[in-house]
Amino acid sequence: MGVALFTVLAVTACTGGVSGTPGAAGTRDPLFPKLGNDGYDVQHYGLDLDYDPASGRLTGAATIVARATKDLSAFDLDFAGMDVRDATVDDEPAAVNRAGDELTLRPGEDLTQGETFTARVRYSGSPKTITDPDGSREGWLKSPDGGVLALGEPAGSMAWFPSNNHPRDKATYDIKVTVPDGLQAVSNGQLQSTAHNGGRTTFSWKTAEPMATYLAMVAIGPYEIDDKGTTKSGIPVYNAIDPGAKAKTAEAVAQLPDILDWEEYNFGPYPFSSTGVIVAPAKSAAYALETQNRPVMPLDQFDTSTLVHELAHQWFGDSVTPATWRDMWLNEGFAQYAEWLWSEDHGGVSAQQRFDTEYAKDEDNEIWAFPPAAPPTAADVSARPVYVRGAMVVHKIREAVGDAAFYPLLQGWLRAHRHANASTTDFTRFVDEAAGHRLSTVWSTWLYGDGKPDSP
Ligand code: TRP
Ligand code: ZN
Repeated sequence: MGVALFTVLAVTACTGGVSGTPGAAGTRDPLFPKLGNDGYDVQHYGLDLDYDPASGRLTGAATIVARATKDLSAFDLDFAGMDVRDATVDDEPAAVNRAGDELTLRPGEDLTQGETFTARVRYSGSPKTITDPDGSREGWLKSPDGGVLALGEPAGSMAWFPSNNHPRDKATYDIKVTVPDGLQAVSNGQLQSTAHNGGRTTFSWKTAEPMATYLAMVAIGPYEIDDKGTTKSGIPVYNAIDPGAKAKTAEAVAQLPDILDWEEYNFGPYPFSSTGVIVAPAKSAAYALETQNRPVMPLDQFDTSTLVHELAHQWFGDSVTPATWRDMWLNEGFAQYAEWLWSEDHGGVSAQQRFDTEYAKDEDNEIWAFPPAAPPTAADVSARPVYVRGAMVVHKIREAVGDAAFYPLLQGWLRAHRHANASTTDFTRFVDEAAGHRLSTVWSTWLYGDGKPDSP
């Protein structure tokens, strides 16, 4: 979109005597300052995606319903790669500018604080794979068999749709994906309809509960679908299993309803209206991910303990979402601790034994490299201290309050911030209040202290 149009619209806006200013390109996240934007709050994403595996080309239309949080002359979306064809705001053409991963839309008329508006962006191209500061790959991941995993922690969603790409701005989604007949396209939430047209199939998915951008997902491939079951509490199960993974994972996948029942018993009601798992081809990603409703697990990352972990994230991370990326231990410490609890409750080693094994590690072991609540750089958000030492913090809390108070405390925390965001300070304050006294040593030594604590 031309510079000329951009200028003309800007001049028109000025002569209109309006007072809006551009929304900031970033939300000052302590680890990922460029992710997200200020000036508006997204309510809903409608994504219409058409993918051709033969050419690798994606054609997309994103409809974004948002509320202006200030008077805006322009606002940014996060979007990496692809070509933007055009954009509208409230059905009027908007000027488009791109710089790095920022997509700026300038509507013909300023937006007023409090007003709800609809932005529409049409785009196409070969979506990018994004390499994170820690070297992990996310975004649009193509597997050798022509399949795709679209994954987004922490930043990769911007490779396949424009968004306010920060966990702070949760929204509902309708994700529609069209692929050649014979392939499945699986996403978050519930499948609303499947339509065949001219050799192509359109899968329409609806996510009714708020979701952070990093949890949005699409899996395309020759998946086998199992959508017959429900959990004991009546949640529909929709699993998609790569045919090559079926024999090796069937037994563990069949355990999913029992795992979810156990997690509901410990963590309280399941926060979403559907569940399941996607078992993807081996090496299609280098990690499993807790994508909302339906975690993605490449075959070589699949085991029961990891399934317990990813499903625990539905409470810790997906429902109660970190306020910033620095609060990542609120996700990973609890998902890791869920694995320890599962083992303890199912005839394996106890959480105390796991804690002791970890504590026995040398002072120079990587788990003591930094305090779990203070990853020093963006490359550290998924490092061992966030997981293991994070779980050790949870264990110290359990020890301090006792089992009779520990489980109600977890459930109270999850209830207080259900479908919202929370920070580490929210958490320590909540625990101190629930316990009736400050857990000063747990916080100063285990959560924020440098190095290996002097005593277990
Ligand atoms: N959150 C994933 C898990 O533990 C792991 C992961 C994948 C991750 N990609 C990441 C963590 C990027 C942080 C950043 O289930
Ligand atoms: Zn995790």
